[in-house]
Amino acid sequence: MLQISDLVAGYGAADVLHGIDLHVGGGEVVCLLGSNGAGKTTLARCVAGLLKPRSGSVTADGDRLDGLAPSQRVRRGIALVPEDRGLFGGLTVADNLELGGFRHGRRHAVDRLPLVMDIFPPLASLLRRSAGTLSGGEQQMTAIGRALMADPRYLVLDEPSLGLSPGMTRQILKAMRALADDGIGIVLIEQNAALALGVSDRAAVIQRGRIAVTGSARTLMSDPMVIHAYLGGRGSV
Ligand SMILES: Nc1ncnc2c1ncn2[C@@H]1O[C@H](COP(=O)(O)OP(=O)(O)OP(=O)(O)O)[C@@H](O)[C@H]1O
Ligand SMILES: [Mg+2]
Repeated sequence: MLQISDLVAGYGAADVLHGIDLHVGGGEVVCLLGSNGAGKTTLARCVAGLLKPRSGSVTADGDRLDGLAPSQRVRRGIALVPEDRGLFGGLTVADNLELGGFRHGRRHAVDRLPLVMDIFPPLASLLRRSAGTLSGGEQQMTAIGRALMADPRYLVLDEPSLGLSPGMTRQILKAMRALADDGIGIVLIEQNAALALGVSDRAAVIQRGRIAVTGSARTLMSDPMVIHAYLGGRGSV
């Protein structure tokens, strides 16, 4: 289980996260909803080791990750697909993917490639293309594919649907559901609640750095606050 406990983090003098508790088990998709500036990316960065929290802990299957560099966390099975996708636009898709598997050695990278093609078949014909010339959806597949090259146990996706069509979003979220069914634990940060909740087991809403609501994905779909803020409805809150 990836466990975030009482996490406090921020920038400079300002706290952004005020004691976050969240966990995801293997085989589970946990959706994290929250409006702009709520602290979703800040939380993702703390899990990946890109931002040092002020207090609290992150553990993976009981091991504390505090103090580990991002690369060491990747080796412990934690992978982040960042909000900006973080691809090297001048490199080919194949090179971008290989970089994701590199930490485990070149042999590993070669072995993992077919698996990633299985998850995202469109990548197979794009391997020689520069990542910078891909469509948004193709870039997102490459970014997730690169994270998967490291053979993660836990995957944190920071708004994968950003800028994508509903059709492409559905395709990507469906692939994420299949990965979870194979045993990976996924934290799915999204604002596209309707599609994201549909593939999630549990969900949480983060508001101004605090978890405001949490429950099963099904429960949150009928929560008035979630309907009002994320599902385009007229909830009572
Ligand atoms: N590097 C930074 N330096 C200072 N403040 C920051 C920094 N990054 C984020 N913040 C602030 O922290 C708060 C939370 O930002 P964060 O990026 O975590 O939100 P978010 O939930 O991911 O929002 P979005 O949906 O827009 O991506 C915001 O008020 C933001 O301005
Ligand atoms: Mg963000």
